[in-house]
Amino acid sequence: MVSLYISVALLIMGTINTVLMLETMGRKRQGPGYFSAHRWLGRAFAVVFLGVFIFMLPRAAFLNDMPVSALVHALSGLTLLPLVLCKVLLARRYRLFHETLPSFGFLIVFFCYTTIIMSGILVTLFRVQN
Ligand code: HEM
Repeated sequence: MVSLYISVALLIMGTINTVLMLETMGRKRQGPGYFSAHRWLGRAFAVVFLGVFIFMLPRAAFLNDMPVSALVHALSGLTLLPLVLCKVLLARRYRLFHETLPSFGFLIVFFCYTTIIMSGILVTLFRVQN
């Protein structure tokens, strides 16, 4: 259940963080937008994700024995790590790449959904319901 709650929290943080930037950069806006809220929620997402990644990493030793859904989950999760690390590095240090931040952001939220939905969360949720 703990990983279920953490997964739901990552999905909610990723969704809110994406909507904050869509509202800030995707429309004509009055006022400063939500850059600061996005940075802080993005950092919280990165910390929680890295914690889950370190916890899950030993399982990557069993990729060959995994069913397809678990394999997609693992590969998607492994893809998320460099995306999140690059996003933080580009935002903080390599500012000449700032224009690529939205693309990285969309890739992060896409792989966040894939990783979590393929983690068996729906099975757990529906099994809990029935
Ligand atoms: C789950 C999805 C996302 C996560 C986890 C995320 C995470 C982050 C993080 C950690 C930072 C850097 C914070 C820092 O400076 O320390 C950041 C900055 C930024 N992100 Fe995202 N992001 C996501 C989605 C998006 C999307 C969808 C867009 C654009 C449509 C976007 C555009 C930006 C921009 C422009 C910055 C630079 C903000 C600034 O320097 O003021 N991000 N994001």
